[in-house]
Amino acid sequence: MPVPPPIAMLAELTHRCPLSCPYCSNPLEMAAKDAELDTEIWADVFRQAAEMGVLQLHLSGGEPASRRDLVDLTRAAHEARLYTNLITSAIGLTPRRLDALEAAGLDHIQLSLQGTNADLADRIGGYRGGFDRKMQAAEDIAKRGIPLTLNAVMHRQNLDDLDRTIEMAVELGARRLEVACVQFHGWATKNIAALLPTREQTEAAKEKVAEASKRLRGVLAFDFVPPDYYADYPKSCMGGWGSAGLNVAPDGTVLPCHAAQTIPHLEFENVRETPLESIWYNSAAFNTYRGIDWLPEPCQSCERKEIDFGGCRCQALALAGDAGATDPVCIKSPDHHRVVSMLGQADDDADLTYRVNA
Ligand code: SF4
Ligand code: FES
Repeated sequence: MPVPPPIAMLAELTHRCPLSCPYCSNPLEMAAKDAELDTEIWADVFRQAAEMGVLQLHLSGGEPASRRDLVDLTRAAHEARLYTNLITSAIGLTPRRLDALEAAGLDHIQLSLQGTNADLADRIGGYRGGFDRKMQAAEDIAKRGIPLTLNAVMHRQNLDDLDRTIEMAVELGARRLEVACVQFHGWATKNIAALLPTREQTEAAKEKVAEASKRLRGVLAFDFVPPDYYADYPKSCMGGWGSAGLNVAPDGTVLPCHAAQTIPHLEFENVRETPLESIWYNSAAFNTYRGIDWLPEPCQSCERKEIDFGGCRCQALALAGDAGATDPVCIKSPDHHRVVSMLGQADDDADLTYRVNA
């Protein structure tokens, strides 16, 4: 089957971030500031992405507002005719900067929410005063009419606040709410005991999202990413490896997903040396787990193989020690007992281990 071009690209502009969330998805080894791609190289990468068919660009991090050239980068993306979404904690988004970003052609903002009140949000983000600044930024975004998605990262310590999270999304004028439960790879694996949601919380969250989606139709749309540890089958991660999206790390390394660098045997190419298109179609890292031919048993003879593509490679590595294994979340996986034993680690008294930033 011919490989389709990617639809979306996540540009991790920097790993720098003022927050230190205990579920941070940045790699354990972060790119230093002086290794980051400069404005011109990023602009060229955006043009290459648009030429190969990418439609949506997510400017992410770390905290992308930590880049002084964020407005120039946004303009470059807009000039490349990409739909441009800024994924931010809002620290560093002053009214003046928002005006400049809007003038540069920013299409959309995705604001992260660590909790529904200052005590909880500032404790989880490890940044005092962050919640108040975020609420101010949300107001400033709404005033300008920039389309807003609220991205609520949920776990055992805040899932019981889901009703209030939904109310807040409506109050802040968000058009979409992402209820994204923490995925345990990278730094988050240090906090499984403290953050793992209970089965009851997971079930209640599903019901609440289903009910609110109906009640708020036309007002607020929902994306729900439940934890899959209580499910029988895994999710299809990234819509299948190397099938719909790609990530570019701050130093130009091109990755099939944000956690791919946890897979030690894969070698990733860099846009400083190789054109983006060649990396997407030809690199070993993108081709290793692309499609279904590589799938092991029991996936190879399973009727769901074109639905979930064997689940998440990074989760298979984290839980089974083999990125090429069936995702252990699957009840057919020979490693499924590892998920069951992980669920036994939950501990209400566990301390949070905060992200150590570079
Ligand atoms: Fe998916 Fe593989 Fe499990 Fe089938 S056996 S449901 S393809 S992970
Ligand atoms: Fe890497 Fe799922 S996060 S494949």
